[in-house]
Amino acid sequence: MSAPAFAVYVHWPFCAAKCPYCDFNSHVRHDPPDQRRFAAAFAREIATTAERAPGRTVTSIFLGGGTPSLMEPATVGAILDAVAKHWPVAPDAEVTLEANPSSVEAERFRGYSAAGVNRLSLGVQALNDADLRFLGRLHNVGEALAAIELARDTFPRLSFDLIYTRPGQTPEAWRRELREALTRACDHLSLYQLTIEQGTPFFALREAGKLAIPDDSAAADLYAVTQEVCDAAGLPAYEISNHAIPGAECRHNLAYWRYDEYAGVGPGAHGRLKLADGRHATATERMPEAWLEKVESWGDGLATDDVLTPEEEGDELLLMGLRLAEGIDLARYQRLTGRDLDPARLSDLLAHGMVERADGGKLKATRAGFFVLDAVVADLAA
Ligand SMILES: C[S@@+](CC[C@H](N)C(=O)[O-])C[C@H]1O[C@@H](n2cnc3c(N)ncnc32)[C@H](O)[C@@H]1O
Ligand code: SF4
Repeated sequence: MSAPAFAVYVHWPFCAAKCPYCDFNSHVRHDPPDQRRFAAAFAREIATTAERAPGRTVTSIFLGGGTPSLMEPATVGAILDAVAKHWPVAPDAEVTLEANPSSVEAERFRGYSAAGVNRLSLGVQALNDADLRFLGRLHNVGEALAAIELARDTFPRLSFDLIYTRPGQTPEAWRRELREALTRACDHLSLYQLTIEQGTPFFALREAGKLAIPDDSAAADLYAVTQEVCDAAGLPAYEISNHAIPGAECRHNLAYWRYDEYAGVGPGAHGRLKLADGRHATATERMPEAWLEKVESWGDGLATDDVLTPEEEGDELLLMGLRLAEGIDLARYQRLTGRDLDPARLSDLLAHGMVERADGGKLKATRAGFFVLDAVVADLAA
């Protein structure tokens, strides 16, 4: 039997510029951060986490951000070495780095590969220059396509991200763009609907009536196009926004969605560690400099560290697992919470075609259910 999943997430919190839709923990700094100092802090927090959660075999590492492709390959190498120093790493471990597709960053791809990265996730976002400008991106289509080509030559595995439901986007235009993307794609694509997050410049623009994105019905049409085009190309959705050739799913993200164990390292990283007294939900300081000082003083940058109640674990299993096409294991829900899902709510959602039963005692969202997943989960979790 293969080892249980143990995923290590490492957050690099800096970007060259802040995109107007983004509410991730990403910061722009006038002076470039001291990468050696950050690398030492990452190594220290990895050591502390491994002391709390020893004996695991690492099955995946994900360097996310922010913009991890602003890291020097030596910084990436130091982080990967620190992980391998404190836990055994499975020989087939998936090691992903998120990269932005500017030409400067592409120059570092070979260095990342030499450091041990075997999968790249590229933030392409759009395949037309007008929409890239609207999204506030620093790259153009030419650079994105060149970065895709270089990444395909450099890494055994490649995924890229696109954002759709952009203002004025028609199903026909999206179909063309997605087909073009699929001709360039390797075995995995992440396709996100544009979300207007509170506190972002896009939120303010929408409040001021200066930004209109497709309404629910237009978004549903674009979502239907997404499923149809990707199914036809052999990359069905295995998660609400993620498509892959079967077998090429992102193992790291699957660990979150299957509610396995994961460590979160770096500013604003979240973890779920199964310790003697239960499943711990950990989160570190979000501000990079505050995190750095905390790690240097205390060995970790933890801001919160809470043992989850059975009810909270059950809610998280639903929240994460129903994003997956495979759904959740109802017996596992029962084991975690000591109870079954509310029968009346469940039968109501089954009757409305929002969820369905699947083989092996599983429950999964239907396509209609996926489109209103937040409401489905809220209903079941209440
Ligand atoms: C945290 S970003 C990191 C990747 C990299 N920094 C980049 O932007 O290219 C991960 C992905 O989330 C998606 N994303 C971020 N904010 C979003 C939003 N408000 N709506 C939809 N997708 C979003 C983008 O596709 C992005 O590539
Ligand atoms: S580059 Fe990525 S992480 Fe940075 S601000 Fe833009 S979307 Fe957010």
